[in-house]
Amino acid sequence: VSGAAILGLGEHRPARLVTNDELSQTLDTSDEWIRERTGFRTRGIAAADETVVAMATSAAGKALADAGRSPESVDLVVLATCSMASSIPGGAALIASALGAPTPAAFDLNAGCSGFCYALAVAADLVRAGRSRTALVVGSERLSDWTDWSDRSTAILFGDGAGAAVVGASDLDGIGPVEWGSDGTLAELVYAPTDTRLLTMQGPPLYRWATRMLPGVAEAACARAGLAPADLAAIVCHQANLRMIDAVVRALRLPPSVVVARDGATTGNTSAASVPLALSALRDTGAVASGARVLLLGFGAGLTYAAQVVAVP
Ligand SMILES: CC(C)(COP(=O)(O)OP(=O)(O)OC[C@H]1O[C@@H](n2cnc3c(N)ncnc32)[C@H](O)[C@@H]1OP(=O)(O)O)[C@@H](O)C(=O)NCCC(=O)NCCS
Repeated sequence: VSGAAILGLGEHRPARLVTNDELSQTLDTSDEWIRERTGFRTRGIAAADETVVAMATSAAGKALADAGRSPESVDLVVLATCSMASSIPGGAALIASALGAPTPAAFDLNAGCSGFCYALAVAADLVRAGRSRTALVVGSERLSDWTDWSDRSTAILFGDGAGAAVVGASDLDGIGPVEWGSDGTLAELVYAPTDTRLLTMQGPPLYRWATRMLPGVAEAACARAGLAPADLAAIVCHQANLRMIDAVVRALRLPPSVVVARDGATTGNTSAASVPLALSALRDTGAVASGARVLLLGFGAGLTYAAQVVAVP
């Protein structure tokens, strides 16, 4: 056994969905503007008890059940998040203890909205190196705590939720080599100042950065996995804005056979949770079959980006 694969997926979506019309009651915006510029119709907003750790634990438990693995078998937990209420302690060990995983290695990873793809790359390499046999990779965010609800340019975008994957050894390598990187010179395009702790974002330059850069990153990740973008069964971009995803898909000249994840339409931008949520939605709705090859493409605060081709469990 020398490969690593995703063995199971799980998700946690808050029950409360906030509509564009609801936002328009307190913000100078409209359902029409939000749909046209972002493709978003609703976003999930967590209840008081749906903390980053609680949502992550819920998603991770479902992923373990999906993989047919016990909590006792988990020897590594990586939590990708940037929205914990407090960063001390990190959340990964709390998820492990809540699940009943005895003494796994556990750490949090902050790579903004690329976090899940970064965490998946790290866990896959640890599995391939023989350092982990059953790894939990979770993206969980409560961006509603970090959102300025009086700022119409950001409040329409963000949501809460968690998605998880179990990664384990496999004869067939189901997690392709990662294509990743960063540009800290552009950090001020999306950040939360230490005084307000509320996200501020320069939308248009971020949009241009992402649509210019991501097609090349996507092509490189596909090449590393030995296939062309047109060979993919689906593409799962970070759900920052569906119009932006459409631009990336156009630039890649993807044929109609490639399914494009559009989970953000109902879920909003959930940062590190958006890629695993969108992947599990594709699988659960039957849009992609088990074994199908899907490109994951994360990008966001840092700025950071990361992409890899995975096989659907
Ligand atoms: C945020 C975003 C949706 C804004 O869309 P846009 O088409 O770029 O719109 P602009 O920011 O240029 O704003 C256009 C106009 O709409 C206004 N506007 C902004 N938000 C609005 C809202 N919610 N409702 C109505 N009008 C709004 C602006 O004030 C501006 O008005 P003006 O022309 O009078 O100045 C878009 O830039 C985006 O998604 N960017 C990328 C976000 C991203 O990548 N995030 C990833 C990091 S996690």
